[in-house]
Amino acid sequence: MLTACSATDAEQSVARALRAPAPPSSDAASLPMRELVRMATLAPSSHNTQCWRFQISDKSILIAPDLARRCPAVDPDDHHVFVSLGCAAENMVHAALASGLYADPRFDPTGDGRIAVNLEATQRRISPLFQAISERQCTRSDYDGQPISPTELRQLEQVGTGDGVSVRLLTARPAMESVLAYVVEGNTAQMNDAAFVAELKAWIRFGADEAIRTGDGLFAGASGNPALPRWLGSRMMGLFFTPKSENERYSRQIRNSAGIAVFVSERNDKAHWVEAGRCYERFALQATAFGIRNAFLNQPVEVGTIRPQFAAWLGLKAGERPDLVVRFGRGPAMPFSMRRPVQAVLA
Ligand SMILES: Cc1cc2nc3c(=O)[nH]c(=O)nc-3n(C[C@H](O)[C@H](O)[C@H](O)COP(=O)(O)O)c2cc1C
Repeated sequence: MLTACSATDAEQSVARALRAPAPPSSDAASLPMRELVRMATLAPSSHNTQCWRFQISDKSILIAPDLARRCPAVDPDDHHVFVSLGCAAENMVHAALASGLYADPRFDPTGDGRIAVNLEATQRRISPLFQAISERQCTRSDYDGQPISPTELRQLEQVGTGDGVSVRLLTARPAMESVLAYVVEGNTAQMNDAAFVAELKAWIRFGADEAIRTGDGLFAGASGNPALPRWLGSRMMGLFFTPKSENERYSRQIRNSAGIAVFVSERNDKAHWVEAGRCYERFALQATAFGIRNAFLNQPVEVGTIRPQFAAWLGLKAGERPDLVVRFGRGPAMPFSMRRPVQAVLA
């Protein structure tokens, strides 16, 4: 059996190998469509469910939700599913450009909803956002408490804004303390919700062997916990994963962040959720390019009874939805999470 330490090393060598970018093709005709899909799968997804299916055709790629991977307890209206698809589409845009293709993702609401990404030949460009794809991660470490420069903040705000989606960057301490109060309230509600905890536990990969076998889920090491066999990790979770310990961690980690970003949709529908995912992913890639880390604090937008109060605190208009809450700052990297192979996500 793998030990805790070697298990983490094993998971990390596989996770790193999966992230390595293939050298861009010099021949647009021999377009590596599967490589575009692979780069899209390096995007974040809620609970690392990788809730997507890709269909490659001649000049386009369809990104559809894999609803067998939905998480009804934390995400009853599939908001996070469509945000995750938006993140994948955004990665594809930058990967396509690096292969000499202009990618134009359009949301198609028919059926369950999907994204059609049409591809056209264009001048090849290796952007800093493309280069950040394989390095980006949701980093749940402590940050250094130092501010981010005004130039970096402006750039993050610019890339995090889209069609009907805006981002608010909160860097004043009183505002961050107010968000913390919503996070603590939401976290306490979630941890006292048996369905939420059972669903979360089902997506935790306590050991590296489990993470490598499934290629998905929340690898315990990526949250700074030791890699353990499932039977032991599951028992330890019951002992150490308490509302008090988690709320203390969130308090410390918000206080050592440089700021909090809140993404807001003008309208509460799937098209805007996809757009929010695209805006968040650009923000995360730009942050990575700047050496800035980020991690989600989504409790205030996930708990249905708290979201309207949080929206009112933000001063949102009727019909607007707060989509995502993210802390950011500089700090150490954490182990990378796993991905399934391309073959597993092709329709
Ligand atoms: C829509 C969405 C919601 C998420 N919500 C949370 C969250 O509330 N807390 C958290 O720690 N991570 C959250 N994540 C991050 C995922 O757990 C993470 O993307 C996944 O584990 C893959 O890891 P990576 O982003 O480091 O590649 C969310 C991601 C997405 C796309």
